[in-house]
Amino acid sequence: MARRNLLTVAAMFAFAGAAALTVRAQAPVSYARDVEPIVVKACANCHGGDNPKKGLDLSAGKGFADLTQHKSQESPLMALVKPGDPAGSYLWLKVSHTATEGRGMPRTLFGAKKLPQAELDTIRDWIIQGANP
Ligand code: HEC
Repeated sequence: MARRNLLTVAAMFAFAGAAALTVRAQAPVSYARDVEPIVVKACANCHGGDNPKKGLDLSAGKGFADLTQHKSQESPLMALVKPGDPAGSYLWLKVSHTATEGRGMPRTLFGAKKLPQAELDTIRDWIIQGANP
């Protein structure tokens, strides 16, 4: 009987977990709608214009191609974005301030700050979901 109760509890947890996953999956993240406004605001003043830093142009209409088709210049074995794998994406290491080269992004004059948590979540979810346009 005790074992049966345990199984019931385990089944309830499994169900709750599946429900939570379903809720997240219902909010697909798009680069154009969700990610681009964040990077245009926080990054394009340096990663834009005639000479974008590290050749990475995050200005409107440019960032998606640059992020999804290029390797990192600082860490040439890594893609800037590896769809489905934030830890394998140099962009994520830079914005989560876990990269070992250079500063965390966005840089400031003397250091670096972090994006607000909600914006970091959007970028991470975008990568996890496959880095869709
Ligand atoms: C004040 C200027 C500045 C701002 C703002 C800035 N960056 Fe950077 N970024 C740089 C510089 C300079 C480097 C190279 C040195 C370093 O990594 O610190 C760089 C490097 C990078 C790299 C590594 C590129 C590569 O090929 O390895 C990524 C990724 C990056 N930035 C993303 C971002 C993102 C995303 C934002 C906005 C959240 C941002 N940066 C904001 C100046 C900036």
